[in-house]
Amino acid sequence: MLNRLFPDDVVTATATPRMWDAPISPREAPAIAGAARKRRRDYAAGRACARLALRRLGITGVSLPSDADGVPVWPRGVVGSLAHCNGFCAAALSSAPHIRSVGLDAEPAGPLPKDVRQFICSQRETDWIAGQPPDTHGNWYKILFCAKESAFKAVFSLTRRPFDFWGLEVEFLPDSNRFSIGRAPALPSARLGVIGRFAQTGTHVLAGVTIANRNRDEI
Ligand SMILES: CC(C)(COP(=O)(O)OP(=O)(O)OC[C@H]1O[C@@H](n2cnc3c(N)ncnc32)[C@H](O)[C@@H]1OP(=O)(O)O)[C@@H](O)C(=O)NCCC(=O)NCCS
Repeated sequence: MLNRLFPDDVVTATATPRMWDAPISPREAPAIAGAARKRRRDYAAGRACARLALRRLGITGVSLPSDADGVPVWPRGVVGSLAHCNGFCAAALSSAPHIRSVGLDAEPAGPLPKDVRQFICSQRETDWIAGQPPDTHGNWYKILFCAKESAFKAVFSLTRRPFDFWGLEVEFLPDSNRFSIGRAPALPSARLGVIGRFAQTGTHVLAGVTIANRNRDEI
């Protein structure tokens, strides 16, 4: 399921039950100093997933501390993203030179609360959802939120410029469970291609965004 969110040159790993109690390294520990148990377990599972994915890229024995922005510090030549949500945790990583950034997000299944919608949607996105069958609106808002979180992770990791969700416009291609990003702050879109994919399980909505050099456009 997870690998369907990304092109073939992105590797993914999902947490197994044991990973939530995985050890973290001394360099990683400061990020969760004094944190509650749930946060510690989320953090440990994320690192364990990332290490599993890195092993698939032939990289072992690395610490993955968080930088000042909260973004994991990946080994040189690797880009990646982590997500944890309600017992689900996963990592998506790539060492392919044309892949510039990836973003992964997971949200609990179910409609997005109405009071959050106004904070995430452009008028165009609202109009698009309004054109879908009424009983799917809440679900589309949730997918939109998840898509924007995954896009935020991918874009921010590359540009290091924070932005509101209004500044990022998602266009759904629902027949293929894909979305494109019509507008993303500070992203040099002439040189970079952005493609997003989403999926739904019984318990979660998932979204993945890949940003790649345009000269390898088939992402
Ligand atoms: C940073 C953010 C994307 C995290 O998402 P989340 O759903 O809260 O949490 P997730 O479990 O999905 O992801 C957390 C992981 O994302 C990564 N992360 C944290 N900050 C990040 C950032 N600025 N950019 C990219 N990745 C980030 C980390 O790996 C983190 O896990 P870790 O601390 O265990 O390493 C989110 O909190 C955020 O700031 N979103 C954008 C702000 C916004 O405008 N929100 C609108 C809400 S209405």
